[in-house]
Amino acid sequence: MERLDKVLASTGRWSRREAKELIREGRVLVDGQPAGSGEQKVDPAGTALLVDGQAVAVSRFTYVMLHKPAGVLSATEDPRQETVLDLLPEHLRRRGLFPVGRLDKDTEGLLLLTDDGALAHRLLSPKKHVDKRYYARLDGPLGPADQAAFREGIVLADGTRCMSAELELLGDGREVLVTLHEGKFHQIKRMTLSRGVAVCYLKRLSMGPLHLDPGLPKGGWRLLTDEEVAKCGGKT
Ligand code: URA
Repeated sequence: MERLDKVLASTGRWSRREAKELIREGRVLVDGQPAGSGEQKVDPAGTALLVDGQAVAVSRFTYVMLHKPAGVLSATEDPRQETVLDLLPEHLRRRGLFPVGRLDKDTEGLLLLTDDGALAHRLLSPKKHVDKRYYARLDGPLGPADQAAFREGIVLADGTRCMSAELELLGDGREVLVTLHEGKFHQIKRMTLSRGVAVCYLKRLSMGPLHLDPGLPKGGWRLLTDEEVAKCGGKT
């Protein structure tokens, strides 16, 4: 049995203070009865919780979709630079979330943060070949020969061989969509450099079944929906 305010806050939707406020305002029902106080003990697994008439799913883990802006590190802490965790509110920052994989400091787009280590492992495992799709703007055009080279498997300047990847050309080929099935350090930047052009702008659009929510502004975040958590193999 756990405190009701703690259980409500564990959903990531409210801080403990906000949860207490909801309870005080009579907006929380526990098994059909108005909740008494934040200290009330409930069974997180076996109690029907409603807030404003909506069922509240209590999950062991927290899953956050972030629209990472450029200029922020994909790390949990850094003595000098802003990290992706600094973009989250205090009650989420205290939860031990970490980014699932890294985007370069200047790369934008989809980043998942969670405290579910097993899910992170599954999404990042090199054996699982989870697709990652990016939009890139380049300082010169790529063409059909480069598409064939991407398909074949690019060999980077240091001799590293990449897996087959998809390159879609947009317009004159200075804008592209790239789908990777692995995740090497600076991979897209190094792949395009091996074809003679540099990345000017890079944004991740999707990772496995998870797509960046077009409604999220840069720096914005939201919790994954139950459907997204289930698609990623997380625990709802
Ligand atoms: N490839 C890169 O070069 N950078 C990223 O951040 C992600 C993929």
